[in-house]
Amino acid sequence: MIPTLGIISPVLNEAQNIAPFLKELETCLGGESWEIIFVDDDSRDDTQQVVAALAEKRPNVRLIERIGRHGLASACIEGLCSSLAPYLVVMDADLQHDPRILLQMLSALRDGPYNLAIGSRYIEGGGTGDWSKRRLRYSRVATLVSRLATHQNEITDPMSGFFMIKRELFRETAYHLCGKGFKILLDILSSAKSEVRLIEIPYAFRSRLAGESKLSLSIALEFAILLLDKTFGRVVPYRFLLFVFVGCFGAVLHLTVLGTLFLGARISFPLAQSIASLVAMILNFTFNNSFTHRDHQLTGRKFLGGLLSFIAICSVGAFVNVEIASYFYGLSVSWWISGLLGALIGSVWNYAVSATLVWKRR
Ligand code: GDD
Ligand code: MN
Repeated sequence: MIPTLGIISPVLNEAQNIAPFLKELETCLGGESWEIIFVDDDSRDDTQQVVAALAEKRPNVRLIERIGRHGLASACIEGLCSSLAPYLVVMDADLQHDPRILLQMLSALRDGPYNLAIGSRYIEGGGTGDWSKRRLRYSRVATLVSRLATHQNEITDPMSGFFMIKRELFRETAYHLCGKGFKILLDILSSAKSEVRLIEIPYAFRSRLAGESKLSLSIALEFAILLLDKTFGRVVPYRFLLFVFVGCFGAVLHLTVLGTLFLGARISFPLAQSIASLVAMILNFTFNNSFTHRDHQLTGRKFLGGLLSFIAICSVGAFVNVEIASYFYGLSVSWWISGLLGALIGSVWNYAVSATLVWKRR
């Protein structure tokens, strides 16, 4: 039988929180029919065993175990896809999201005109608990940026990780989601094709009792990637933009090394240029490996092999670049447009070939 409410709870090392969380849900949800799907990304503590033990006596507790994949947003998407319940809620398992507003959210969707109910910390009645001033400041800035990106100006808490959505709205949106990073709600808001009728319901974000937060600098980077993808992604893949960005940085480094060697150390121009190119390629490779393709990152011996193929690919790219620029220049196109066209086509070559051959993207 299909339950009314499907609760999707992403978990990563939350062993100590699962049992108290489940107990709270049982108290708050009373007689409603519901199921809970924990989506675990190969936790290193015994989260999976704890869920399995609790599921033994409860047919409404399920577990999705993902191995070799990670990321909060994609974990939520998989969980959301796995439930047939007409109302779906995404909720952290660390007790920071207050389950006492669940019934209020449910009745807003079931009896009201809404298809999305967001647990909000910033409207009257909500709160952010014991957050530091620094985290509050980050959260404010991120909220502002995401309002601009989603064109949802009224919403006070687009970064909330606690929201209930009608299954129909999720299903329509699922095909357009980006799935990267930490911010699944933001992803849904900026990807939805049909009308989103949302309501915010206040709650106070509680402090964590056990385990620790997974929010980190790399997650802030993923947030930037999500925004980039949502803003320009339809025109140019965000990964290519990162690649070009890294390339520009490499060009600055190249000129610095060239200038130092040629003007400072008085090394011959061809030698100085070769050394500068090599340094720039090594740096570009390292940065692309840790940012642009961080989800397919090469380490150890593969790093070295990758670097060699990258250098080979970029050398061909440089050749193509010069050929194309010279061709346009020969047609009396101005020098800088010719140069730019050559560089652009060279970059597309470097990007496309290295993505498939070095980082093995299909
Ligand atoms: N499966 C999976 N994979 N779960 C994860 C991952 C992951 O990569 N990273 C975190 N989680 C789980 C945690 O175990 C927890 O249940 C929930 O996702 C939230 O992670 P926290 O690390 O506790 O996040 P937070 O409390 O710092 O951040 C909260 O507030 C943010 C807004 O400021 C979350 O609710 C965020 O979703 C929210 O955007
Ligand atoms: Mn948390």
